[in-house]
Amino acid sequence: MNIEKEIKDILVSEEELKHICKELGKQISRDYEGKNLLLVSVLKGAVVFMADILREITVPCQIDFLSVSSYSGTKSTGVVKFKKDLDINPDGCDILIVEDILDSGVTLSYLKGVLEDRNAKSIKICTLLDKPANRKADIKADYVGKVIPDEFVVGYGLDYAENYRNLPFIGILSPSVYENN
Ligand code: IMP
Ligand code: MG
Repeated sequence: MNIEKEIKDILVSEEELKHICKELGKQISRDYEGKNLLLVSVLKGAVVFMADILREITVPCQIDFLSVSSYSGTKSTGVVKFKKDLDINPDGCDILIVEDILDSGVTLSYLKGVLEDRNAKSIKICTLLDKPANRKADIKADYVGKVIPDEFVVGYGLDYAENYRNLPFIGILSPSVYENN
């Protein structure tokens, strides 16, 4: 992989990502004092963000993972598939969904709907990135790390065709990488 050619620009640096996690962690710790916090992360894109924000949260919490997919290449298919369910029963929990990016919103609104049937006490959303330009579903995040323009981004867990997840920053993928696919 020739990073210089494939990444057009760095959109969120390592330093800024650290700062975002610290700030969101502080806010969440304040808001969830005395509650029954269950962090639910969406595989696989949100795992890096989950690992970092988790360590900035100072109130007791549990974590769990689920897996859905609605993506094919760089465009959402609009069809969401449930691939892995929660291990923990969220009955009575204050769920905070930890997502990498809110784009069309189709994935999160589907997920929220599914979790609403599970007797959780509350359900909120924390997303690292928010791309409002492409929104199709009527959904808003309660915690947002950074609002970004309508560009396809990779790194810090986010992928293109399962690659680039290991980059320590968020970068804009050069269209030349996916234009011929
Ligand atoms: P939505 O249903 O369109 O909101 O899509 C949400 C999911 O699509 C995210 O959780 C990501 O996994 C993926 N996604 C959306 N935009 C991007 C992007 O710019 N880069 C990588 N993945 C993305
Ligand atoms: Mg995702």
